Amino acid sequence: MDDKPAIRTLLDFRFPLARREHAKSGVLSGYPKNHPVAKQNGPRTLTLPTPGMIAGKILEVEIGPMQAIVYQRYGSPDVLELEDIPIPTPAEGQVLIRVHAASVNPYDWHFLRGTPSFIRLFIGMRRPKFPRLGADVAGVVEAVGAKAARFKPGDAVFGTAKGSFAEYACAAASQLALKPQEISFEQGACLPIAGVTALQGLRDKGKVQTEQTVLINGAAGGVGTFAVQIAKSFGARVTACAAPEMSSFCGRSEQTK
Ligand SMILES: NC(=O)c1ccc[n+]([C@@H]2O[C@H](COP(=O)([O-])OP(=O)(O)OC[C@H]3O[C@@H](n4cnc5c(N)ncnc54)[C@H](OP(=O)(O)O)[C@@H]3O)[C@@H](O)[C@H]2O)c1
Repeated sequence: MDDKPAIRTLLDFRFPLARREHAKSGVLSGYPKNHPVAKQNGPRTLTLPTPGMIAGKILEVEIGPMQAIVYQRYGSPDVLELEDIPIPTPAEGQVLIRVHAASVNPYDWHFLRGTPSFIRLFIGMRRPKFPRLGADVAGVVEAVGAKAARFKPGDAVFGTAKGSFAEYACAAASQLALKPQEISFEQGACLPIAGVTALQGLRDKGKVQTEQTVLINGAAGGVGTFAVQIAKSFGARVTACAAPEMSSFCGRSEQTK
């Protein structure tokens, strides 16, 4: 792909017909071209007209390539490539995020290896149907699709976005939350999958109550780290099981592994 971004009218770009209508009605929004953030981000910025700029004018978008981790076959991390691919466009209910941080989970490992085998029924039998990896993400909203108006360009967010190991990723607005100022993008990107897994296990399935005793096996891992803190916040007595060298990380401890 060329280094320079392709500049085309919106009408001959590859937006589907329905998307054109959204853009015309101003539902698809992003930084205007002369916005300081658009200028600062340079040619990789997705620049879409603001509603006010749309009426009666030829619409232009700049779509530059972005770098992303791509894989075309299942295997070890050796199958991963860093490639230039087009910046995705947010569908209905989605926002486009400029990725500041992404984190790695066992979840990504399953997608990389295509294991256990039955998941290939859903993600591609011989090769991955969606050749991108990554789920956990934190970043800044760059553009907002139709019916995702709870976010606006410039919002710092965290959550899950398919293909987050890239400079940009699209996420369902329902999978995102505003990032509290007190936490960094890196901290925000570590939270979603492991934190929600721990929360679902303890609160929704386990229905942990005050004064109950909870054993967290693997307490120094991604899920375990959150599980210890969440169980304690529910008032439970927590026994954390981890490798001896991680005992100080898990808090007061007798050796359990
Ligand atoms: N985060 C997710 O994507 C996610 C979502 C849903 C379910 N899960 C599942 O939840 C589990 C934990 O995920 P995670 O993200 O927390 O993984 P992780 O960060 O790799 O943590 C796993 C932890 O388990 C400990 N461990 C390994 N073998 C053990 C053993 N035989 N006895 C006791 N502890 C042992 C490890 O301790 P050492 O470091 O000392 O070896 C490590 O702290 C996995 O089974 C994963 O598949 C994960």
